[in-house]
This record gives sequence, C-alpha cells and structure tokens, in this order.
Amino acid sequence: MNLKLLVASGALAACASTETLATSADEQASNVTFSAQEWQTLHTLSPLPDLPVDTTNRYADSAAAARLGQKLFFEPRLSGPIQTGTPQEGQLGAIGDKYKIACRNCHMPESAWLYDIRSNNGGPIPNATALGSLWMTRNVSSIVNTVFYVNHSGAHWRENDGYSDSEWFDAQSEPEGPPVQNGSRLQLAHLIFEHYRADYTAAFPEYPLDPGLANYARFPATGSPYTDAANWNALSAADQEIVNRILVNYGKAMEAYLRKLVSRNAPLIGSSPATHTRSTRVRSAASSCSSARPSASTATTRRCSPTTASTRSA
Ligand code: HEC
Repeated sequence: MNLKLLVASGALAACASTETLATSADEQASNVTFSAQEWQTLHTLSPLPDLPVDTTNRYADSAAAARLGQKLFFEPRLSGPIQTGTPQEGQLGAIGDKYKIACRNCHMPESAWLYDIRSNNGGPIPNATALGSLWMTRNVSSIVNTVFYVNHSGAHWRENDGYSDSEWFDAQSEPEGPPVQNGSRLQLAHLIFEHYRADYTAAFPEYPLDPGLANYARFPATGSPYTDAANWNALSAADQEIVNRILVNYGKAMEAYLRKLVSRNAPLIGSSPATHTRSTRVRSAASSCSSARPSASTATTRRCSPTTASTRSA
C-alpha cells in the first residue's frame, strides 16, 4: 500500500471533519469511531518499519553524504534571482536578488514538521502556496518521514503527484526550478567546488572534483538545460557530464540527509481499536505536540518535534 496516499487520504478525512474536530474533540469521543477496516489500515502506519532500502543510491546511508546534504539544505547560494513577491508576502529579498532562498526557507525548522510558515499571499488561507523565486501552485508539504513514501513493490512516490521516482532525483529539481530556487546546475557545481570541496570529497571519494571548475571561461557561472540554456549548450559533452555528476551526487547527499528526518514518536495508535475514536486519535497524536496556529483546526496544526531532525545551520 502506498503510505503517502494513505496518509494523504487520512488527512483529507481529517479536513472533511475539521469543524467537529476543532469544536470539541472530547464531545465527539463517544459518537465517532473508526470502522474495523479503517483500523486495519491505520495499523499499517504504526509502528514505522525500518527505513526502506534504496538500491538506487549507494550513498543513502553514508554519514558523510548526509552531512553534506544537511549543509546544502541550509545553503541559499544555490538560488538565482528572485522574480516576484514583497517583504509583506514573506519574500526573502528584492526582485533580482540572488542567493536568498534555501530549502530551509520553505521547509522551515521553526515549524518543527518542516513546512512553510513564512510566505503569505494575503488570501484567506495563510501560507496557502509557497513563495520561492515565484509563487508556486502548491503549499509546502512536511518533509518528515517522506523516506517512507514507497509502495509495497519498493517504488517511490514523490511529491503529491508522483512527479519523481526517487528522493535523490526529487532533490535535483529544487535548485533549478524557476519558481523554487531559480538557480542552475553550473551554479551548484561552482558552489560545491568553492565552498564544499572537502565535504564533497569526503562523501564521494570516487568522484574527485575537476580542477577545471576554477575556469569560468570553460564553466560559466550559471546554466542548465532550463535556465541560461545557451551557457549549458555551449559546454562540451564531457564538461556537461562533469556538472551532471555533481548534480546527481548533490541529490544523493540530499537523500542521505532526508533519511535522517524521521519521527517515530507520534503515538498515533495506542491500545485496543475498540476503545479508539477519531478524537482519541487527534488527542493522542497531539499529546507530545503543541498547537502551531491555535485558531485553525486541531487536525491540521499539530506540531511535534521530529526525533532526529537537526536544525543546525551550515
Ligand atoms: C519555494 C519553496 C520550496 C523550496 C525552496 C523547497 N521546496 Fe521542497 N517542497 C515545496 C513544495 C510546495 C512541496 C510540495 C510539492 C507537492 O505538493 O507536490 C515540496 C515538497 C518537498 C518534498 C516532499 C516530497 C514528497 O515526496 O512528498 C521534499 C523531500 C522536498 N520538498 C525537498 C526539498 C529540498 C531538498 C529542497 C532544497 C534543495 C526544497 N525542497 C526546497 C516547496 C519548496
């Protein structure tokens, strides 16, 4: 069963009954129950199994790769020019400013579940969509426990629409996404060469960085198949390969870090199913949490600390 779909459908069910959950969980305790089938489904969520093995990333459990991924998660110099947004909306700089947007600005440690509490387009729903270099069309999902988003055959389901098939490929899309960080893989290669050489070499000793990366005439400051494509297309195939390898290894380091963002401490399911009600579920899930936005529904605002999520900056 696809855990993400399961969680997503659970979230939808919670949203549908938001009003009742928000008014009084205790009042609901006696008259809203999960069916046996729902309980069977819920029990597949807890306790969490071991981390899924990722046979596509040999660095997935490398401590050195995770350290590099963590540093890059907090690194705004991956990002290109800001294209829209105001300080009132939560934008992180002026139009045209670069080096302002890191992963951590949308997946915010301040929110504990690593979602966005910064951007706000003034609409009726705060933080409804993410503000990167442009407004994105979706709100930011939590990245805690996303490593478990695999189905029974081991295939990954990334993003809400299944956009990518691995954690490491998924991570590659953010620096180059024009609405997200609006940077490019050439910018990333230079950043790693100039500021993370030791970390990169420790994580990927099989792939020493090419000293030619110091030469900006050979490797322009920016460029990818999507942004500043002329710079990219002017590279030789061998030089494109050098940059592509860095992009791939960056994604693999990011996956190694994301695999550390695991929370096993939400007591979602406790004793006998017969004694459980929807409100019991909400109350027990919230027992180690505090409300992030008291005016909103209980179900959507629970706020727990991931056990191993680290908020250390690079
Ligand atoms: C501008 C805001 C923004 C930035 C910056 C950002 N993300 Fe995201 N991220 C999002 C949004 C929006 C989603 C939800 C996408 C969806 O619904 O499909 C998301 C979802 C994710 C997910 C969840 C994927 C899943 O399987 O559900 C991961 C993992 C992730 N981002 C990692 C990163 C990493 C790593 C970086 C930095 C390299 C990053 N994000 C930077 C906005 C952002």
